Amino acid sequence: MNLEKHRKDFPILNLKKNKIIYFDNAASSLKPKQVIKAINNYYNDYPANVHRGIHRLSMQASIVYEKAHEDIASFFNCKKEEVIFTQNSTDAINLIMYSLYNSNYFKKGDEIITSIEEHHANFVPWQFLAKKLKLKLKFIKLTKDQKLDVLDLKKIITSKTKLVAIAHISNTLGVINLISEIIKIAHSKKSLVLVDGSQSAPHLKIDFERLDCDFFVATAHKMLGPTGIGCVIGKEKLLNKFEPFRFGGDMISNVTLKESKWNSLPYKFEAGTPNISGVFGFLEAVNYLKKVGVNNIYKHDKEILKYAYEKLKEIKNIIIYNCKDIDNQIGIIIFNLKGIEAIELSALLDEISGVATRAGMHCAQPIIETFDRKGVVRASFYFYNTKKEVDVFVKTLKKIDLMVNK
Ligand code: ALA
Repeated sequence: MNLEKHRKDFPILNLKKNKIIYFDNAASSLKPKQVIKAINNYYNDYPANVHRGIHRLSMQASIVYEKAHEDIASFFNCKKEEVIFTQNSTDAINLIMYSLYNSNYFKKGDEIITSIEEHHANFVPWQFLAKKLKLKLKFIKLTKDQKLDVLDLKKIITSKTKLVAIAHISNTLGVINLISEIIKIAHSKKSLVLVDGSQSAPHLKIDFERLDCDFFVATAHKMLGPTGIGCVIGKEKLLNKFEPFRFGGDMISNVTLKESKWNSLPYKFEAGTPNISGVFGFLEAVNYLKKVGVNNIYKHDKEILKYAYEKLKEIKNIIIYNCKDIDNQIGIIIFNLKGIEAIELSALLDEISGVATRAGMHCAQPIIETFDRKGVVRASFYFYNTKKEVDVFVKTLKKIDLMVNK
């Protein structure tokens, strides 16, 4: 991987003044110029609606929109019909939740299994539904090395479990869960499995067919793409079986005053005018990731993470909450410094050296509160980050440590 060449593609990494070190990739990745150009291409060249006109602009926009379904399906190794564009992962999980609700999939007393490490997006919708329909919500425990405990899952799963909804990689711990084992256990009880791939899709090769989960969700803005666009990947037979969530526009095939019929997949779930420019950007983001190579990204992750853990040993008063299992972790470190609150520490990192981190609850309050009730700082890396940047980060932390803990 040619790191320097790739860094040149990211305008924000090439500022002459006020340089930044971007370690907030788990919140949103940076965008290369190719993605920005693809979004502009839509607005400059064919700024028309898709599937709604026979004029050339609409036709050209529709061709790219279709190609995005195809290429994104190929990126995740699934069928084109199985890729439904949504606003982001949160929207994707809500779509699945409402679709299951509209299909009367759950009945009173059924169970949903999730975990304490979930992003709110993969927990709150299920908590809401459980209250509404009187379902039982169960939580898989974590092992000492912060993975979802498959033995515990075997203990708590029953024939009443209708859904297991879990993160492939948590947005705070960074640990890669034993997702294939979890899927097999869930399927042995005939439960559906939803995998939140928001943090895994940017870092790991995802093979939907091989993974064999029922639903996988991802969001473009964490994988070099624009905000406001993501996807649900769902097994075709399930998407055919379940009712849609939103109604109107492209999801319709026929309407009479008596009844309406839904469009074929994937459009059945894509109501209204979609985020066309976002889809153009998502397509280009996936092309860029293919060019870099997801395996190279994974390798680079390990190198940076290992280096960062080594260097952070130099900080006397740092508290790191991750289990530091480099082989099973992507580049996410959550930490605090004694004597200063997370939010202040994150602000100082930015102020002193332009290091961008995130601080607080990270949309994952239940797990973060087990570490610190006032929140933690998160540094999250991606393939364009360098060891030199880690050096600046560590040097700045040292400086703050000296300031705070004289
Ligand atoms: N889900 C994003 C994060 O982890 C926003 O920061």
